[in-house]
Amino acid sequence: MALPPIVRKAARALGLRPPARSVRVPRINFVSGLEDGAWLLFGLARAMRPAVCVEIGSARGLSACYVGLALKEIGAGRLYAIDPHTRTDWNDRESVDTYRLMQRNLRAFGVADYVTVVRDYSDKAAAGWDRRIDMIFIDGDHSYDGVKRDWELFVPHLREFGVAVFHDTTWDIAPDHALNRDDMGVPRFVDELRRQGYPVITLDRHHGISLVQPTAGGVPLVRS
Ligand SMILES: C[S@@+](CC[C@H](N)C(=O)[O-])C[C@H]1O[C@@H](n2cnc3c(N)ncnc32)[C@H](O)[C@@H]1O
Repeated sequence: MALPPIVRKAARALGLRPPARSVRVPRINFVSGLEDGAWLLFGLARAMRPAVCVEIGSARGLSACYVGLALKEIGAGRLYAIDPHTRTDWNDRESVDTYRLMQRNLRAFGVADYVTVVRDYSDKAAAGWDRRIDMIFIDGDHSYDGVKRDWELFVPHLREFGVAVFHDTTWDIAPDHALNRDDMGVPRFVDELRRQGYPVITLDRHHGISLVQPTAGGVPLVRS
């Protein structure tokens, strides 16, 4: 049974927000390989209640809309969504100037107030960055050097229990021959992190989504 509006308003004023039972989203074709993987970002953000989220690579805004939706549900937090929205080596054929399209999609999801669109390259956006980050989604330049640079630039700002999420991590073990590229470097880089002892959990869906904790060996759970 739905709660009367006055009870919901009072609960909100007290910071009591019940978990969402159903979430409605607009039907938008984002033309994104992330597909339903965006719900993982939604769930992660909804559970983590992050103050600061960052994403590198927004395109039409699928990932940004779902993180934004979680922040809207919580009623707090901000996503800094970094993408030059211009031609890079990593646009699909039709997603070159996606700036207006992304803004429109954020409005359609009702999340524009929770997302700051940073129209820039990640290295420029990282210069002078001074916010502690709870969650970062890395989905921009997919070359080995590009993804390594994004990790090195932003992960020092990630909180101990923060999470870095990488997209496109299983191209090596499950290539999609129609879309495969020789310069796809995400699997190699994330596998290097795994071999260096960073905890990596990979879902073999949507071309691979990997969650990485930014402490080699993992954060100890017992303080000795
Ligand atoms: C695969 S798309 C991102 C898809 C998006 N996350 C989604 O959920 O649909 C890759 C994006 O990365 C952006 N990009 C490429 N190089 C970048 C860089 N150095 N900094 C920030 N964004 C970059 C491209 O402009 C492109 O829009």
